[in-house]
Amino acid sequence: MRVFNFSAGPAVLPEPVLRQAAEEMLDWHGTGMSAWEMSHRGKSFGSIIRQAEEDLRELLAIPSSHRILFMQGGATAMNAVVPMNLSRRPGSDSVIDVVHTGLWSGKALAEAPKYSRVNLAASSEGQGFTSVPDQGQWQLTERAAYVHVCPNETVHGVQFHFQPDAGDVPLVADMSSEILSRPVDFSRYGVVYAGAQKNIGPAGVVVVIVREDLIGHAMDCCPSVFDWQHVAEQKSMFNTPPTGAIYLCGLVLQWLKRKGGVVQMEKDSIEKSAMLYDFIDNSRLYTNPVASDSRSRMNVPFFLRDKSLENGFLADAERNGLVQLKGHRTMGGMRASLYNAMPVEGVEALIRFMRDFEQKH
Ligand SMILES: Cc1ncc(COP(=O)(O)O)c(C=O)c1O
Repeated sequence: MRVFNFSAGPAVLPEPVLRQAAEEMLDWHGTGMSAWEMSHRGKSFGSIIRQAEEDLRELLAIPSSHRILFMQGGATAMNAVVPMNLSRRPGSDSVIDVVHTGLWSGKALAEAPKYSRVNLAASSEGQGFTSVPDQGQWQLTERAAYVHVCPNETVHGVQFHFQPDAGDVPLVADMSSEILSRPVDFSRYGVVYAGAQKNIGPAGVVVVIVREDLIGHAMDCCPSVFDWQHVAEQKSMFNTPPTGAIYLCGLVLQWLKRKGGVVQMEKDSIEKSAMLYDFIDNSRLYTNPVASDSRSRMNVPFFLRDKSLENGFLADAERNGLVQLKGHRTMGGMRASLYNAMPVEGVEALIRFMRDFEQKH
């Protein structure tokens, strides 16, 4: 029996995608082999990766000024790969502006000084990362190499509900936990990266969307495999790409197109997250500390006022088929991730369970 899986990542995949992958596992389109077993240089895989790239471009309306790269090392590697590719950009001062809004932008902030000077442009650390610093207060550097943001903080459950603006400086965003959940104007971004394992597919591939003019400036120390110029020239095949992961991402992207794309995903995620936040705000047992204008539609952390009930909550939830609700180890409490593949029925079941649990206790 399938459960409702609220993991923050690797996360639930759409059931039709898993069924299709199972059907195609022994024989992909008459080749007599699975997508995992074919040469990345062959015609079959070539068509898989091209289609995935085209579908991603269409779904996100990515302009022709931007390249799409499939890379490895996760979003964590990109926290180093971005400064290695951008911090010596001609015409810029070698300073990276970082907006610190939670654990994941914190990781970018910690990695960047290995490659460049860093300016902490804004931080909500003093408020426990419960809101996004007002953009008017950001202390940006005029000729920064780039400005780094994480528009959805997976651990703290904080999300930008405005368009960040870096002026003429390239804006770089770690969109790992919100990509494909709402329309985004990519022309405003220099670089967007996203680990696949939340809203794109399985773990093992990271999507990098990079404006063409930002390619070709890697530092000498940058490993060739992480130099965007090599990766772009070789159409994401500078080395063996994670073929199986890209294949599954492709199936998810086709599923997304059938479901109505990112416009529909945004409607659905507004509906799903509003239901859960409303319930939490009106309950006497559960709380969420995030300011209402900064709450994430993707990751909803919540706490029980009586902490001693937490283990019982998680065990009972699991018995009811509601799994992976434990909060991040740095935060404690609970977290429900509501990515695209989480059906509204899952959120309804979670709320029913939470209501019952509250009444019993
Ligand atoms: C926003 C964000 N950035 C980066 C990461 C790290 O991704 P990876 O473990 O694939 O490197 C995560 C993982 O949860 C994330 O949520």
